[in-house]
Amino acid sequence: MQTFLSLCQARYSVRSFQDSTPSQEAIDYICECVRLAPSAVNFQPYKIRYVSDAEDLRKLQECYAREWFASAPACFIVYRNKSEEWVRKYDQKPHGDIDVAIAIEHLCLAAAEKGLGTCWVCNYNPTLLEENFPAPEHLEAVALIPIGYPSTKDIPEKKRKDMESILL
Ligand SMILES: Cc1cc2nc3c(=O)[nH]c(=O)nc-3n(C[C@H](O)[C@H](O)[C@H](O)COP(=O)(O)O)c2cc1C
Repeated sequence: MQTFLSLCQARYSVRSFQDSTPSQEAIDYICECVRLAPSAVNFQPYKIRYVSDAEDLRKLQECYAREWFASAPACFIVYRNKSEEWVRKYDQKPHGDIDVAIAIEHLCLAAAEKGLGTCWVCNYNPTLLEENFPAPEHLEAVALIPIGYPSTKDIPEKKRKDMESILL
């Protein structure tokens, strides 16, 4: 059985994909893992859109014009629902971004378990994304998560701070 540590070691930002689209069974499994993610006050303030249609993928690529991104056979757009997120009353801090980040990491780790590669993408043009994929005002796109089978089996070396420098 795969341990959680081995899954964390195996997940990396995949930036080169095979042509084949993920199976529907894998996408359903991943979405169920997203659905089970914890969130502040259990408000679950997010929406996920799965894009695999060629024309929609082309419109997504306009928003993040990178050659590697164009190789992804599918992509999730993950939205924060501003009308449903918990806001801490003491300082008005909204927690939607935190909830979305947890949900996305469930997505990425579930995908890794299924042998699928993903990469967080936040450096897209948000104005263009809104133009190409109009969404209701209360939904803010937080990340694009391209998904597909990695084109290589090699897992790059993890570059991380050592334990001492992250422990306070
Ligand atoms: C919030 C967030 C935003 C990111 N945005 C981008 C991005 O726009 N483009 C990109 O190529 N990688 C992006 N990444 C991927 C990071 O560069 C990557 O996770 C980090 O370098 C660690 O590498 P690893 O994921 O392979 O372990 C993002 C990651 C996170 C968590």
